[in-house]
Amino acid sequence: METGINKDVNLIREVFNYSRKFRGATFVFKIDCALLEDPFFPSMVRDLALLHSNNINIVLIAGAKSKIDEVLELYGVNYDFESGVRISSDEAIQFIKMAAFDVSNRIMTLLSSQNINAVIGNWVRARSMGVINGRDYKKTGLVEKINVDLVKKVQSEGLIPILPCIGWSRVGTPYNISSNELARIASVQLGADKLFFLNSFSGLYVKDFAVPQSAHVAQDGRISRLGTVGARDFIKKNSKSDNPNMEYIELAIGACEGGVKRVHILDGRIDGVILKEIFSGLGSGIMIHSNIYESIRKMRLDDVTEVFGVMKPQIEQGILVPRTEDDLREKYGDYYIYEVDGAIHGCAAFHDFGEGVGEIAGIAVNQLYSHLGIGQKLVEYIIDDAVKMKFGRIFALTTQALDWFEQLGFREGTVEDLPSFKKENYNRQRNSKIVYRDI
Ligand SMILES: CC(C)(COP(=O)(O)OP(=O)(O)OC[C@H]1O[C@@H](n2cnc3c(N)ncnc32)[C@H](O)[C@@H]1OP(=O)(O)O)[C@@H](O)C(=O)NCCC(=O)NCCS
Repeated sequence: METGINKDVNLIREVFNYSRKFRGATFVFKIDCALLEDPFFPSMVRDLALLHSNNINIVLIAGAKSKIDEVLELYGVNYDFESGVRISSDEAIQFIKMAAFDVSNRIMTLLSSQNINAVIGNWVRARSMGVINGRDYKKTGLVEKINVDLVKKVQSEGLIPILPCIGWSRVGTPYNISSNELARIASVQLGADKLFFLNSFSGLYVKDFAVPQSAHVAQDGRISRLGTVGARDFIKKNSKSDNPNMEYIELAIGACEGGVKRVHILDGRIDGVILKEIFSGLGSGIMIHSNIYESIRKMRLDDVTEVFGVMKPQIEQGILVPRTEDDLREKYGDYYIYEVDGAIHGCAAFHDFGEGVGEIAGIAVNQLYSHLGIGQKLVEYIIDDAVKMKFGRIFALTTQALDWFEQLGFREGTVEDLPSFKKENYNRQRNSKIVYRDI
């Protein structure tokens, strides 16, 4: 394990790695307007500006709920909620627009102070929610469509688009729309890689909930990761909970099912929360991810023959250390597999060597499915598990995939970096490269 300057250097390497990985990606951020009053808000905007300058395409959705309440109260305009949805009267919509644009404006002003140009736009088509169960929702609307081409054009010109919670009908009637729904739909229609909900409440902790087995839990007891299936299970198991995160987990499932890879629900009051979530395995909120990760599971004994079939060509070419099906059976509990529609496309093992050190070994992807990110997902999954199990270092021995591991944040080491058992048994004839990553 490294300390001091080495640790800093590794962190810098990790950040460069991530920033390469996300170059050109699209991240949508929904900002709860209560955060605008938070002392760390200017530093959050600085972090957003930093991401923008690193070629990440950012879209901001400005939530305005508490600001709208404030403005309506200030001007003495009556308002009402039905099933949690604001009924926006003809009188109220002018004030709602004012509040929504005011929030967007404040975000834009803070970005300007970072020399980042942003633009507030009317890129959202909406329609009336109409009358439901006899209740007229008046100027409350539903998001129909985002003008994706225009949003992308704005981004291509180096500007950050800000979307207020107002949408317009085909004939130009403004409607008050839910900024949460807008964030979900915009992230799907823009093909976003990530959607962030920046909230002003804290995360979920295992002690307060019935938690599905598939959930990942951080060292402090925070529920840190759920797949969409696990997330549904979580909602079902805790259907009586009135925790505000619940609504966001529902939205996150919807976004993932629409193709967004990961949705992060974060407590925006924590300084640096966005950067921590993106650039370190640490995270600090809850991440809901699409089914990609759910394709990974532990190997079962009845998988051994198929897994051996995936490894065999690599063993025959001398890329992987020779193994038999019996070897796999003996260590089957160490293996993870990547499965799609019942067919195994990849595998990897994680062996525990004590001393908080583990080895990723036997990683192989069926050549028909190479270059699809399967190998990377297996490694990331194992790293997440290793973090959870409090490992401090993982290493791998490879003859052919040094660059690949380096791309995943590993660095080249020497025999001295191996745990004692592995050091004593290092096969000098095979002369594998040693790569490791401190986690
Ligand atoms: C290494 C391996 C697991 C990667 O699996 P994968 O699912 O194809 O990899 P990913 O899709 O996550 O990553 C693909 C990227 O890594 C690169 N890459 C793949 N194998 C690589 C290698 N051996 N060396 C360097 N880069 C490699 C690809 O060029 C690709 O880049 P691109 O997306 O820009 O085209 C797979 O190639 C394999 O089974 N190799 C043989 C076994 C092996 O070497 N195992 C490691 C020793 S334990």
